[in-house]
Amino acid sequence: MLTMKKTSNYFITLEGIEGVGKSTQLSFIRNYLLKSKQPLVVTREPGGTPMAEELRKVLLQKNKEPVTQEAELLLLFAGRAQHIAQVIRPALAAGKWVICDRFTDATYAYQGGGRGMSLEQIAMLEKWVQQDLHPDLVLLLDAPVKTALKRIKRRRMKDRIEMEQESFFQRVRDGYLARAEQFPNRYKIIDARQPCLKVQKQIKSILDELLPNL
Ligand SMILES: Nc1ncnc2c1ncn2[C@@H]1O[C@H](COP(=O)(O)OP(=O)(O)OP(=O)(O)O)[C@@H](O)[C@H]1O
Ligand SMILES: [Mg+2]
Repeated sequence: MLTMKKTSNYFITLEGIEGVGKSTQLSFIRNYLLKSKQPLVVTREPGGTPMAEELRKVLLQKNKEPVTQEAELLLLFAGRAQHIAQVIRPALAAGKWVICDRFTDATYAYQGGGRGMSLEQIAMLEKWVQQDLHPDLVLLLDAPVKTALKRIKRRRMKDRIEMEQESFFQRVRDGYLARAEQFPNRYKIIDARQPCLKVQKQIKSILDELLPNL
């Protein structure tokens, strides 16, 4: 459980399908922790280092050649290896909180759930690349696909992943929910259909549990 942890800085990830409000809540979390005088690093995946951001572009652009599932999965973990070595581990070792917009649970949900790739294979890569590193807390913002996609309908350009069908995102959502069921101690499922302020309030009370000295 979260409270068993010896140190007072945490690795928190935000997860959920596109449009559920991850970036919106990320900025709330950043402000709240800064106000609470916690040192922190805010980052994202795919990406988080200059090289991993280059890989993000490759992953999200509409390529002329078809992208194999294997290439997609390996590019994700290649970027993650850089991100962990350059940003996440050093920040955690320096006593900083790390707040990350998407991480490995997204790989389970998108490549495992969405694309139907082998979860065992993903787990193998996870173990190889991350060893013992896992988020202490995964905030899963959950909403029906229609609700979430409606929120981002006005975006000008869709990236390669956002071009997928609704059924794809349904499988991704199910993939996330299956992960949450498998690791109930690490996951908090938040009803992202609620108005922004209600979602914030819920996240604030979760953070308050981790900030005993406030
Ligand atoms: N609880 C909410 N209720 C209604 N609208 C919301 C809520 N949270 C965020 N939004 C709005 O929905 C849109 C998408 O939010 P946001 O960009 O935070 O989602 P996201 O999960 O980061 O999406 P993506 O995965 O595509 O980056 C924004 O216009 C945001 O203002
Ligand atoms: Mg976002």
